[in-house]
Amino acid sequence: MSNNRVTRRQFLNYTLTGVGGFMAAGMLMPMARFAIDPVLEKKAGGDFVMTDKKASELSETPVKVDFKFEQVDAWYKSDVTDTAWVYKDGDKIIALSPVCKHLGCTVNWNGSPEFKNQFYCPCHGGRYEKNGKNIPGTPPLGPLDEFEVKVKDGLVMIGKTRANTLV
Ligand code: FES
Repeated sequence: MSNNRVTRRQFLNYTLTGVGGFMAAGMLMPMARFAIDPVLEKKAGGDFVMTDKKASELSETPVKVDFKFEQVDAWYKSDVTDTAWVYKDGDKIIALSPVCKHLGCTVNWNGSPEFKNQFYCPCHGGRYEKNGKNIPGTPPLGPLDEFEVKVKDGLVMIGKTRANTLV
């Protein structure tokens, strides 16, 4: 009988240790991934994301180019679509972030009929020149960010954002 009890206790101990271990692993795994992964790093698959925009189709007028990438956070991966305003300046390709530097709305090229050849933010009337320079007297206090950009196989690739280097 007492043998039985010890066995049962052992069994319970093993079981609980097992369950505890399983739970600990379940908790630690995401934490380890959190530490190892470039958490919330936008472009997990590399620095540049391929778009379907042909570099040869670009002109000096900014066009909207969408691109998709996989965003990884500690627990799951998701596909995110982002946008850049892309145009040519001589031989150089410029890609600007559409995120307004005031409160983060999305700016549009020629977004207001009143203000030609400017980026316009519909939220509070923020305006930017073509190179992303914020126009004084409008709410944004800094220029639009710039994406790193390169061309591969004739297609535009978009990289990380950085502070505007054109202004
Ligand atoms: S968010 Fe763009 S002007 Fe306010």
